[in-house]
Formats: sequence, structure tokens, C-alpha cells
Amino acid sequence: MYSEKVMEHFMNPRFVGEISDADGIGTEGNPVCGDIMRIFIKVDAENRIADIKFKTFGCGAAIATSDMVCEMVLGKTLDEALQITNATVAQALDGLPPNKLHCSNLAADALHKAIADFKERQATIETGA
Ligand code: FES
Repeated sequence: MYSEKVMEHFMNPRFVGEISDADGIGTEGNPVCGDIMRIFIKVDAENRIADIKFKTFGCGAAIATSDMVCEMVLGKTLDEALQITNATVAQALDGLPPNKLHCSNLAADALHKAIADFKERQATIETGA
């Protein structure tokens, strides 16, 4: 059984989409089922996540965790966002069925990759490489 929060985020996701001029993009695949999630972030001058969107080719739990991750980190600093783990996302959704826990792995990992991508781009700009 899914919690009400999972159902709400699955039925009415608020962060579905793409950011064409994203500052960072993270893609994560789930080796268990082959589903894929992509997260796009915009980062402001204070290193806060000013905008975030996701595209998920996956199950309902993957969509709900994607949406929850976006909600949790919007407006947060990158350091705060990096504290988010797969477990905290699942907790925020009031848990996931045991056979769906692997689905929550995508969300935090894709977010971390998007932040890493942003930092790499910054380093490239700074070094002029
Ligand atoms: Fe693939 Fe859930 S079954 S992410």
C-alpha cells in the first residue's frame, strides 16, 4: 500500500518538466527495473536551488520520490540539498512499500549528480578550461 503522500505526489506532481537552460543536470538509472530519472536545477548567486524540475521514465513510486525531492530542496543551498538521502526522501513520503524502496534510490542520486554537474561546470568556467 502506498501512503497518501505518495499518491498525492504521484497524481499531482508539481515539478514535472525540463529546464532548457539548466545549470546542472543529473541522470540516474535504476539497475533493478531499468527506469530512468533526470533532474534539472537552476542555481542562484547564493548557491541556492532557485528552480528544479524532473523527468522520470518510471513507476509511480519513482515519480512521487522525484517530486518530493524537488519540493524538499527548492530554495535550499547546495550543501543543504546534499544532505538529502534516499532514506530521507522515503521518510518524507511516510515510507514506501519494501518492494518499492529501490525506486527511491533514483531521486536523491539524480539530485546529487545534478549538483555535481553544476559544480563541474563552475570549475570549468573558473579555470577557463
Ligand atoms: Fe522502476 Fe520503480 S519500478 S523505479
